Amino acid sequence: MIKVGILTASDKGHKGEREDKSGKVIQDRVKEISGIVSEYVIVPDERDSISSTLISMADKSQLDLILTTGGTGFSPRDITPEATKDVIEREVPGIPEAIRAKSMEITNRAMLSRATAGIRGKTLIINMPGSPKAVNESLDIILPVLIHAIEILI
Ligand code: MTE
Repeated sequence: MIKVGILTASDKGHKGEREDKSGKVIQDRVKEISGIVSEYVIVPDERDSISSTLISMADKSQLDLILTTGGTGFSPRDITPEATKDVIEREVPGIPEAIRAKSMEITNRAMLSRATAGIRGKTLIINMPGSPKAVNESLDIILPVLIHAIEILI
């Protein structure tokens, strides 16, 4: 069983002004890797809110995997990759590289995602873009390797 945390970075989602469809896609699809979602939070696009939530999920809750959605683009408030880089100890560039490369076969806008991934302790943290479509496409790419990734991390 894989303990999963979902972090949605969205000002509107946090205020309850927008339904978090992308977080729900993640919640549903992690079942494909026997993932159990033990924490699911919607935080505003604030660097400190994102980084402190990631630290709590990794250090306190000891989750195996944290999947984030949103805040990877060019809007002035998009800050998820920076907040993630603040907390990871080892970067895993291959994961966002693979997501961007495979996603480019679907839309050339995939190059606009600044997503990152990395390891903090025994927790793998992966950024994904914000739309439910992009999340579904990103999960198609990464889910097949995540079980092995987490096995070698523990
Ligand atoms: N990746 C996939 N697979 N599918 C998509 O539709 N959208 C792109 C990109 N990556 C997209 C994608 C777009 S339009 C943007 S702006 C960036 O992700 C960043 O998205 P975000 O700001 O919602 O995080």
